[in-house]
Amino acid sequence: MKKPARRPPERPPDFPPSLLHALHLLTRDGALNADARRKLKQIEHLLTLLTPAVTDVLARFGDPQIVDAGAGKAYLGLMLAQKWLRGAEKGRLFAIESRADLAARAESIAREAGLDRVTFVPTTIEAAPLPERLHLVCALHACDTATDEALALAIRRGADHVAVVPCCQAEVARQLAAQGPGDRARIEAVTPLYRHAWHRREFGAHLTNVIRALTLEAHGYQITVTELAGWEHSLKNELILGRRVHRESRPARARLEQLLDTFGVRPTLVRLLETPHETTDETPECPNSP
Ligand SMILES: C[S@@+](CC[C@H](N)C(=O)[O-])C[C@H]1O[C@@H](n2cnc3c(N)ncnc32)[C@H](O)[C@@H]1O
Repeated sequence: MKKPARRPPERPPDFPPSLLHALHLLTRDGALNADARRKLKQIEHLLTLLTPAVTDVLARFGDPQIVDAGAGKAYLGLMLAQKWLRGAEKGRLFAIESRADLAARAESIAREAGLDRVTFVPTTIEAAPLPERLHLVCALHACDTATDEALALAIRRGADHVAVVPCCQAEVARQLAAQGPGDRARIEAVTPLYRHAWHRREFGAHLTNVIRALTLEAHGYQITVTELAGWEHSLKNELILGRRVHRESRPARARLEQLLDTFGVRPTLVRLLETPHETTDETPECPNSP
């Protein structure tokens, strides 16, 4: 039987081939390889889901300040700047990346592509010198507690919108493993949810994201939790979108405190927001780092 003809590679219309080449998303002969296709799928989905947030901040603010936290090669930040800031001729995107080599490489790509609305900040999210007021904070697969740093940054700087796709998460699983016998006896009915190490990792990651969403709600954000792209494109696929609509929500804060007390955990986001802002140079190891 004759094989059906291969579909020509889909090149996203919003991005010039020169930028896709520089980001190594296009091969020399202009095709998309499987990895590039997967990465592009994620970024394009995220950009689509970010459209209301970006158009809102562009419409409401003269010079919106946007962050790509844990930027890596800055696919997200560069493509966002290309898609929206270039044409709008306003706004600034800060790409924060703790690995100086990655930040330097992405900076030279931005310069070549003429994306002069992007500023690279080669340090940790906690240590990054940024404007006092931010309008949109995004973090795509920022490793482990770097997602918490991004959320704390958004909350502290009053960001109108926030979008995170969390990466691997091990901190809360460790805290669950360290529960004392008293804690375990008190919540005996639910401890089978995380008795085995594998379940503890999955449940710990889930609990972390629930705590993240509730923390945003407690700080006045309206939350949507959804899927970024199909599982075939990424295993870390949960997208938490927040839009700031109030100053705070006391019911959400009460639910958050109750959840933290029940499980006896205190993830980084909660600790960061309890303490005065300090800087750190520690970068957690992440197996998904580029
Ligand atoms: C899994 S990669 C994702 C990169 C990019 N957002 C993407 O989706 O292609 C996570 C990146 O976050 C960076 N990172 C980890 N902890 C960080 C921190 N605390 N502050 C800034 N960057 C951090 C890592 O060096 C790595 O480049």
